[in-house]
Amino acid sequence: MATAVRQAPTIEEIRDMVPATKEVAYMNTGTCGPMPRVAYEAMKAEHEHELTASRIDSDHFPAIGRARNEVREVVAAAINAQPEDIAVTHRTTEGMYIAIMGYRWERGDELILSNIEHPGGLIPSFLTKRRFGTRVRVADVGLGGGDPADIVKAFEAKITSKTKMIVLSHISYTTGAKLPLKELTEMAHSHDVLVVVDAAQSFGSMQLDMQDLGVDFYAMPGQKWACGPEGTGSFYVKPSSMGEIDQNFAGGALPGSLDYYGGTYAPPPGAARFDTAGQSVTQTIGQKTATEWVTQTVGMDLVAERIDTLSDYAYDEMGKVEGLSIVTPREAKSGLIAFNVEGIDPPDLSARLAEEHKVIIRYVNRYINNPDAARVSLGFYNNEDDIDRFIAGIKAVQTTL
Ligand SMILES: Cc1ncc(COP(=O)(O)O)c(C=O)c1O
Repeated sequence: MATAVRQAPTIEEIRDMVPATKEVAYMNTGTCGPMPRVAYEAMKAEHEHELTASRIDSDHFPAIGRARNEVREVVAAAINAQPEDIAVTHRTTEGMYIAIMGYRWERGDELILSNIEHPGGLIPSFLTKRRFGTRVRVADVGLGGGDPADIVKAFEAKITSKTKMIVLSHISYTTGAKLPLKELTEMAHSHDVLVVVDAAQSFGSMQLDMQDLGVDFYAMPGQKWACGPEGTGSFYVKPSSMGEIDQNFAGGALPGSLDYYGGTYAPPPGAARFDTAGQSVTQTIGQKTATEWVTQTVGMDLVAERIDTLSDYAYDEMGKVEGLSIVTPREAKSGLIAFNVEGIDPPDLSARLAEEHKVIIRYVNRYINNPDAARVSLGFYNNEDDIDRFIAGIKAVQTTL
């Protein structure tokens, strides 16, 4: 029997399905992706449903459970995991707190961060110091480029007999560098160190395989590269690492085994124990629909290939602009390119590109060793015209400096 070949939509069809791409050069998916119409329609239908008495009909609670389980299925399929390995959260940061604050820290334990982390992973790491008396060490990986083996060595050099956890971003939100996660994880595991990953910039922007990467915890957003609504996220737990962390908040309304008078509670099996609950069903339906659209209808092969092609084009074109310096090391490239333009601060440049040229980018702030920079995001729905408009906008701004 012939196997059906998936027919991926063309870029023009994709852009038709994402109205925001017609309004502006949408180049800030690193903050929040443009929403596909299918997700909006699914959310609108759910809102309509909530206007009526059926908001609290007998299907109300089962519907919440179904919506969450659908998110688990779609996310698991996108990262080569099982639905029972996925918790449903409200954002990336929530997953980082679940992993970092859920670990049973003892005074003197150590945790290693890279020097290019986002506050989503940075702050809970430092909280373990305040709350449990841990020591936080920083592995300096520069901008995250160069030889991947040197990056692994920078982390390994910080490992001591007390190290319990490495916390790092798969793709740095400031420098845009993609870190060698598989090699880092192999090294960490050879020292019995857990790996907690901030996947804010990687989930939905690149091919992901949890079996291959081997990480222990992977915290994902719904609203960025997966183009879902705000207030949505998910969290992967490697099955063999499930017991390494405890719940801070047993919000999933899953009974587990509760002995009320005996005063004991044991969580149910699977990552659903880490669901923090309280999500809007509408948002959860939007998250599922958008994630499914990006990862299956468009497809991660097309997404990854488009981002790769567009970033090569952007590097080449940006390289021709006098006074523009690229921060992101090309050998570690991702969908994010950080850069500076001589004579104008990144916040002013971002504001002027938006107001005068309808080109939407952002700037990133300085944390520890991160450079100040403007940052352009390249999504699968962007095209070469968007990049040309972005370059033309920069050149027009330069003439006024
Ligand atoms: C690397 C990184 N981590 C965490 C976050 C925060 O994401 P969320 O709002 O999903 O918690 C961001 C958002 O910009 C990010 O880039």
